[in-house]
Amino acid sequence: MSLDHAARPYDLVLYGASGYTGKLTAEYIIKNAPTNFKWAIAGRNEKKLLDVIKELKELDPNRPLPGKTQTSNTGSTGSL
Ligand SMILES: NC(=O)c1ccc[n+]([C@@H]2O[C@H](COP(=O)([O-])OP(=O)(O)OC[C@H]3O[C@@H](n4cnc5c(N)ncnc54)[C@H](OP(=O)(O)O)[C@@H]3O)[C@@H](O)[C@H]2O)c1
Repeated sequence: MSLDHAARPYDLVLYGASGYTGKLTAEYIIKNAPTNFKWAIAGRNEKKLLDVIKELKELDPNRPLPGKTQTSNTGSTGSL
């Protein structure tokens, strides 16, 4: 399998971003990562992900916000 990093849309995708630990991690990234760091938050529930993005925007309106990508339920291996 090729690891073509240039072809990847994100440097990091934070899975479970709507949870307690996920939100703390997202806050850390937005406060500390370089502004050109390409990252996204991921989870099952779009509304929860949008709420996380809103909270991140309130932390620092000038920082680039993460992308958002919806994922499957990890309990359903067929949907992963
Ligand atoms: N809380 C702590 O102090 C702490 C400390 C050390 C380690 N941890 C570990 O960190 C992890 C997360 O803990 P947490 O307290 O942050 O939990 P949490 O607040 O309940 O968040 C869990 C996250 O995982 C997602 N999720 C749950 N079940 C899923 C599934 N079947 N498929 C896909 N996504 C799923 C949830 O998404 P939905 O919103 O879609 O359900 C949510 O975003 C756990 O492994 C925990 O043991 C937590």
